Amino acid sequence: MLAGCLTGDDGGDDVEGVPDEPAEDEELELVHWWTAGGEEAALNDLLESFRNEYGYSGGDINNNPAPGGAGSAIDTAIQSRVSSGDPPSTFQIWPGGSLDPYTSEDLLNPINDVWTDEMDSAYLDGVKETARHDGDFVAVPLNIHRLNNLFYNVNVVEDAGIDVDGLSDGEDLLTAMETADSEGYIGMAHQTSSTWSTLQMWEMVFMAQNGVDAYRDVLDKNVSDHESALEESLQLVVDYSDYISPNSASVTWDEANQAVIDGDAAFLHQGDWAVGEYQTASGFDYGEDWDMVPFPGTGGVYAIVMDSFVMPTNNPSPTMTKQWLRQCGSIDGQETFNRTKGSIPPRTDVPTDDYPEFLQDQASDFSDSDEQVPSIAHGSGIDPDGKSQFEEIFSGFIESWNASETASRIVDEL
Ligand code: GAL
Repeated sequence: MLAGCLTGDDGGDDVEGVPDEPAEDEELELVHWWTAGGEEAALNDLLESFRNEYGYSGGDINNNPAPGGAGSAIDTAIQSRVSSGDPPSTFQIWPGGSLDPYTSEDLLNPINDVWTDEMDSAYLDGVKETARHDGDFVAVPLNIHRLNNLFYNVNVVEDAGIDVDGLSDGEDLLTAMETADSEGYIGMAHQTSSTWSTLQMWEMVFMAQNGVDAYRDVLDKNVSDHESALEESLQLVVDYSDYISPNSASVTWDEANQAVIDGDAAFLHQGDWAVGEYQTASGFDYGEDWDMVPFPGTGGVYAIVMDSFVMPTNNPSPTMTKQWLRQCGSIDGQETFNRTKGSIPPRTDVPTDDYPEFLQDQASDFSDSDEQVPSIAHGSGIDPDGKSQFEEIFSGFIESWNASETASRIVDEL
């Protein structure tokens, strides 16, 4: 019965038949990419809440990360394992289009039984949609990150005489970066050792210059009407590249971010996972030492990045996996994880009154936002093929910094 449920020959039935007690040799193998300082701390908080809830010791859990920002190494680590029937218990994945390569091959168990009525009624509707395939739940979203942030070091911008609140578009940001540079600071802490941070930066610039409708057109691969806008936005990113971290090609996003914490760089464009770093840095306080404005020209937009966990078929630890997914979907799990991670919970009933002030501000921006848009660099905004095409084009872009050639490639290849 159990084997029938979970072998996944036909995509598996629901997890209903999974026993409440794990088999003696069960071990939860967890694959994710949260190894940067604040991110690792958030995962550890979630693991602790899981162990407390279900009475496990560390020995029952095989925490097996595939390090690399924005999941840049996770596909290699898990795709062939999942398709050859040797999956980990669960793995991190963006809900939405990124699930398709797995759901189209029936490699994810439906987990309707994890989604109790209590959980179902607590989640935001839009988030729930991203967790379903063919009417079945297949994922548990854990967090809502905002992508269109511009973080800055308060003392650096004050010292350089930059009025951050006066930055109204991407061109103003270029001027501010020039000013920071002329005052001896790095304009923008940024990594180019992997393509995703530049891809997401361009997404922000394009949206700021052309608005959300044009951006959605690009997500739908209707790019040919936008060639000159593509080129113009790419050119601005090229202009930014004169002011990014001098060691950008050899650092990760969190290593680059350290320059903001150390007072060497003025700005950072990242998702609010960067806040995990700020919160764990000592003597670096929100409002006083660091602050954030929406990426200039994108006020009113909440560009969204979410993470979820799934239950691959042929699951090595059905009971523990189901319990893990329940914990990801619980008030307790989301309260503790998001507090440290810098994201807001996708459940509407998680008490956030004593959350850090920054997260409370993000939560009100989220409820006041006019538009919520997904991202290419973080999977959910485009199908996996489109994402790979963009990544390939942008890996050329961060070598050539050639805007017109890159715009032509986008139009020709998408
Ligand atoms: C995103 C992910 C975030 C964070 C970030 C940097 O794709 O959703 O949780 O980990 O990458 O690695």
